[in-house]
Amino acid sequence: MASSSTTFALIFLPFLFFFFFLVPNSHAKSLYGRGNLTQNDINLLEFPLNLEYLEAEFFSFGAFGHGLDEIAPELTGNGPSPIGAKVASLGPLVKDITAQFAFQEVGHLRAIKSAVKGFPRPLLDLSVKSFATIINNAFGENLNPPFDPYANDLNYLIASYVIPYVGLTGYVGANPKLQTATAKRMIAGLLGVESGQDAVLRALLYERQNETVNPYGMTVAEFTNKISKLRNDLGNKGIKDEGLTVNPSQGAEGKIKGNILAGDKFSLAFDRTPEEILRIIYGTGSESKPGGFYPDGAQGRIAESHLHHHHNHQHHHKSHLDHSDHDEREDTDDCT
Ligand SMILES: *[C@@H]1O[C@H](CO)[C@@H](O)[C@H](O)[C@H]1NC(C)=O
Ligand SMILES: *[C@@H]1O[C@H](CO)[C@@H](O)[C@H](O)[C@H]1NC(C)=O
Repeated sequence: MASSSTTFALIFLPFLFFFFFLVPNSHAKSLYGRGNLTQNDINLLEFPLNLEYLEAEFFSFGAFGHGLDEIAPELTGNGPSPIGAKVASLGPLVKDITAQFAFQEVGHLRAIKSAVKGFPRPLLDLSVKSFATIINNAFGENLNPPFDPYANDLNYLIASYVIPYVGLTGYVGANPKLQTATAKRMIAGLLGVESGQDAVLRALLYERQNETVNPYGMTVAEFTNKISKLRNDLGNKGIKDEGLTVNPSQGAEGKIKGNILAGDKFSLAFDRTPEEILRIIYGTGSESKPGGFYPDGAQGRIAESHLHHHHNHQHHHKSHLDHSDHDEREDTDDCT
């Protein structure tokens, strides 16, 4: 009798141990380890994955001739490979800097995906045509030959000018809406490095501001001013973007033409909402009309809420996110 109850206890106790210690423990880890993110913060943290995927692919291909499929396939979530991305014809300095940016973006993807489930890599159009269309729209005419972002250092820097800055304004815009310390810490960390990237790109372009971009006969400064104006027009919320030179009334303290960094009248970074960002990165001026770099649209709860067509995968995605409101965020994450 005694021995059979001992046997019973030996078999049963491990289960008790499991239920009283292991289960609450893993529950605690998913709450405290993830800093109790609210659904609001999950939405705002996953949104920038769209831009980080684009930057990671553009910089990786530019520097190495390959992207996440080779560097960090676990971060793609089996999303489609980008269209038209390729190695850029770069000198040693720009190539070195681009390689560093590429790995920084991979780190950003890893950081965001360790905090939120997120979504797989969206379809990205990084073809010459995609960039040429932006530049044509910026100038209001079709440049001939079409602008090739991958052709040389200067073209690649101009093409890069198109991207991290938009992410930067999104991080500034997201910050006051965040509710949890974990999300604020993450967005501040991302903002710091994206701003640094933007500053590096602007400094390299600023040095060459008077150079002519061949064969178009227009200067680097003109290119940046036109691109910034296009982004202001697409975002449709006033001036939140400025090129390398401005009317002095728009420069720092309203006093200077040189504009190595963009900022408002107090030289504070401009902010953009996810909707403004979607209007710009789709190139359509509408958060519900995909296009540009995102032929199928951006992903995640915020971007998908503006898309009218309802794919099956969208339903799966949404129900998955609903599920993650509960305590299984840890288990459903594909990146731990
Ligand atoms: C997470 O939520 C739990 C339960 O609501 C709370 O006790 C804990 O202090 C929170 N932790 C953090 C890091 O906010
Ligand atoms: C560019 O040209 C302007 C006007 O001619 C001049 O004031 C400025 O110093 C030049 N900048 C650089 C970096 O060459």
